[in-house]
Amino acid sequence: MSRKVVLAANWKMNLTMKQSCELVDNICNKMKDRENCEIILFPSFLHIPAIMEKIRNKNIGLGGQNLYFEEKGAYTGEVAAFQLVDAGCSHVLIGHSERRHYFQENYETVNKKVLRALAAGLKVMLCVGESLEERENNVTEMVVVDQIVSAMQNISIKNLPDISIAYEPIWAIGTGRNATPADAAHVHKIIRKAVGRIFNTEVASEISILYGGSVKPENIKELMAEEDIDGVLVGGASLKPESFLELIKRIQS
Ligand code: PGA
Repeated sequence: MSRKVVLAANWKMNLTMKQSCELVDNICNKMKDRENCEIILFPSFLHIPAIMEKIRNKNIGLGGQNLYFEEKGAYTGEVAAFQLVDAGCSHVLIGHSERRHYFQENYETVNKKVLRALAAGLKVMLCVGESLEERENNVTEMVVVDQIVSAMQNISIKNLPDISIAYEPIWAIGTGRNATPADAAHVHKIIRKAVGRIFNTEVASEISILYGGSVKPENIKELMAEEDIDGVLVGGASLKPESFLELIKRIQS
């Protein structure tokens, strides 16, 4: 069984249109072979159509950083799943800790978003992770399993190939302090077991589980050396072409 290696870039609320396009041009022009590595970009909603044009036929995935769980209608300021699909997105990030923390996303809204995304034909990258306080109180496993179980409510086993999970300990995001590979791998195992309990061990063994939180060229290799770490979700280090290209190089070596 071989799970695909995934390098996902979350650009959050950064970059102008020109900067995003230049970054994509740089990646497309300079990246060498990447046989076994799936690259997925999560730019600002506003930049999606322009980036879509640039990555056409390049075998790079494109996704929204969020969506709204209702199908369509009077929800001023929100973006619908069908609109992401229409703009060329293959993926969507759901439940990022910044959304849970700053925008009060909870178990229920995350689950509704997952269901809406899948119904629209999007692939979901579901983000989970504990806070520093939760880690210090030794409840990491409980928190992460609760996040997984609640997000997977009413999801059919046939949708599992369209879901990947990103484990992002909140205390490691944007702080320069990454989880040790062993700590991350331990939580990844727990996540895989939880998915196995909800569905079955066979599908659980096939789901991609990414690590996120201060991933950079200097630590990507040791993280990827862990059996249960199938890829990375990168914020800061994916904003510059030099480090992005280095990540692509090192994730495969
Ligand atoms: P970071 O962000 O790589 O800047 O820590 C990761 C994320 O939030 O997805």
